[in-house]
Amino acid sequence: MEMKVFENPAEVARAAAQYWVSLKPRTVALSGGSTPRVLYELLSDPREPFRAQIAWDKTHFFFSDERHVPPDHPDSNYRMVNEAMFSRVPVPPENIHRIPAENPNAEDAAKAYETDLRKFFGEATPDFDLLLLGLGEDGHTASLFPHFKPTEGLVAAPWVEKFNSYRITMTLPVLNNAKSVVFLVTGASKAAILKEVIKADKKPDLYPAQAISPTNGAVSWFIDKAAARLCSISNSSNAAPESDLENKNP
Ligand code: 6PG
Repeated sequence: MEMKVFENPAEVARAAAQYWVSLKPRTVALSGGSTPRVLYELLSDPREPFRAQIAWDKTHFFFSDERHVPPDHPDSNYRMVNEAMFSRVPVPPENIHRIPAENPNAEDAAKAYETDLRKFFGEATPDFDLLLLGLGEDGHTASLFPHFKPTEGLVAAPWVEKFNSYRITMTLPVLNNAKSVVFLVTGASKAAILKEVIKADKKPDLYPAQAISPTNGAVSWFIDKAAARLCSISNSSNAAPESDLENKNP
């Protein structure tokens, strides 16, 4: 597990962009929310080097999760990524695998997405070259919220009480089959949860982000100083033993 701390969200995004182009991923599962937007904008910015370094026509984009809304809804992860990246780069439409969250039946949307995944990856569990994830202030990641119930299959449609709505999300077996997982965590609001999540005593039922432990993949955390405020992360490039990750007193 590699944890690196950067000055601010812009530098987190730049480091993640450099990591992305170094990987040359052909399959990418994108995360939603607000944190990754700056990365998507950086990757697609013609004034930056990354746009020309990515083989957009050879890369297939998927979503680790989606809100149960149409693709033009302000809360849609697809809408965010389309505005920040897809609309600014030469990615073929057939390379964008959107979760059909406009389906009024969230379970049917999840089943349809599972069919899309199996059509692309075959019967084996998808093994994304790159999987981006965020961290919620309650310890969720993708749309695996505290006390989530593991489900059969590749995609689930959990009811999320706190949002009074369904989500559609890839399941742990898929997330943990990725070859490279990158958590992007920025902002002071994430300091408390990050301190909890990186502790050695794991409580994945309470903090689902702790359940992310790829079988054959690497996990990298790209964090800004504000989010790392309560932790002492020595930019370790190995599984950091507890001693390396002392928790500073707030
Ligand atoms: C979503 C994301 C979710 C997100 C975290 C962090 O659909 O919202 O997939 O898991 O990564 O909630 O969100 P922020 O980046 O907005 O803090």
